[in-house]
Amino acid sequence: MTIHIGAQPGDIAETVLLPGDPYRAKWAAETFLEDVKLVNEVRGMLGFTGTWKGNRVTIHGSGMGMPSLSIYANELIRDYGAQTLIRIGSCGGMQESVKVRDVILAMTASSISTPSRGIFKEFQFAPCADWSLLKAAAEAAEAKGTPTHVGGIYSSDVFYDERPDLNEQMTRHGILGVEMEAAELYNLAARHGRRALAVLTVSDHLLTGEALPSDQREKSFGDMVEIALQAAFA
Ligand code: HPA
Repeated sequence: MTIHIGAQPGDIAETVLLPGDPYRAKWAAETFLEDVKLVNEVRGMLGFTGTWKGNRVTIHGSGMGMPSLSIYANELIRDYGAQTLIRIGSCGGMQESVKVRDVILAMTASSISTPSRGIFKEFQFAPCADWSLLKAAAEAAEAKGTPTHVGGIYSSDVFYDERPDLNEQMTRHGILGVEMEAAELYNLAARHGRRALAVLTVSDHLLTGEALPSDQREKSFGDMVEIALQAAFA
């Protein structure tokens, strides 16, 4: 047990999928895994371990934002030995070519700041995805026929953004979408020598104002879980 995770040693698989929402973790585990066991419910942050095609997988909520994800990812890596960590979440589209429901594979994650800033200080570290996971996820998405974009995203500290000028610069520089967790996941994976990737569904669009209706979120979320699982065990 750690401060924030009640799982026993051995309860957590080497491969961990991290949705922001703990109820998404529950849905994904019940939908895609077999022999599912609840392994954490401290503070309502649900984590489940089961098997997918015979491979052990944990699906654990990360909460919203990099400080929350950092707590869970640190404990999963340092105390439970997680080796492969894949964020599965939503993002806002930032390019005309990116449509609501499309999937984005985050090759890099830019930010204004992350919880690792205290370590990096003046150094502008470039957080990037693990190549083997990125390649496998791109191949899985292509095989499924899911419209998918691979490139840079922006990990923001705020959902309710007050810097339209900055968003304009991001769009101008090819940033595909905005979310709030991937950059710190990539920082931690780099620091500890683990594999990480963020697989994101575009749930809303900053340029068009379009948003995915709630009844269609489940299907898009399911495609993303399958892509993440196939990438993890490719
Ligand atoms: N901003 C930040 N995070 C998000 C968004 C957004 O528009 N959509 C989904 N996650």
